[in-house]
Amino acid sequence: MGSVAPSSRFLCRAIARKINPEKDKIVVELGPGDGVITRFILNRLSTDARLVIFEINPVFIEKISATFNDPRMTIVHDTAENMGQHFREMGIQEVDCFVSGIPFVMLPESLTERITRECQSWLREGGRFIQFHYSPLLLRLYRRVFRNLHVEVVAFNIPPAIVISCEKLGI
Ligand SMILES: C[S@@+](CC[C@H](N)C(=O)[O-])C[C@H]1O[C@@H](n2cnc3c(N)ncnc32)[C@H](O)[C@@H]1O
Repeated sequence: MGSVAPSSRFLCRAIARKINPEKDKIVVELGPGDGVITRFILNRLSTDARLVIFEINPVFIEKISATFNDPRMTIVHDTAENMGQHFREMGIQEVDCFVSGIPFVMLPESLTERITRECQSWLREGGRFIQFHYSPLLLRLYRRVFRNLHVEVVAFNIPPAIVISCEKLGI
């Protein structure tokens, strides 16, 4: 899983607040686990928005499928690395916002960079990549990929977390 406890409501709110319900119509969550953040994202999204989630663990896929019955949501049982293939099949041309809980600090940096660059390439200009972590280890990587970075500390979480948001800049 990559965490000792589910994300607190303070962390979930800090993440969901970064979604703009007026502009973010195609939102993608990577690594939702049992869906604790997913619920906050769905509550934040407008009725005409779409949420696509990627999760590799079949237990969580089953749990999320049983918990949420929301027509805005598409559940993909595959690694985030393969997002492009799924977006093409779904007719998605660009993404407004990514929310990721993938524990990248536990994965090879080359894989993290590949997934992060894939997110960057699918984002619309001005779209955002939002990631939470418990350490600042990967900040340099995100800055390298996106050329910008904003960090918010969420103390009321076990352990305290940081929410990183990066915007896709124009050329
Ligand atoms: C820390 S959990 C997220 C838990 C939940 N979002 C929370 O805040 O409590 C990370 C999740 O990322 C998933 N994951 C790891 N690598 C992945 C990948 N390459 N693609 C999609 N999901 C992945 C894991 O299966 C796990 O469910």
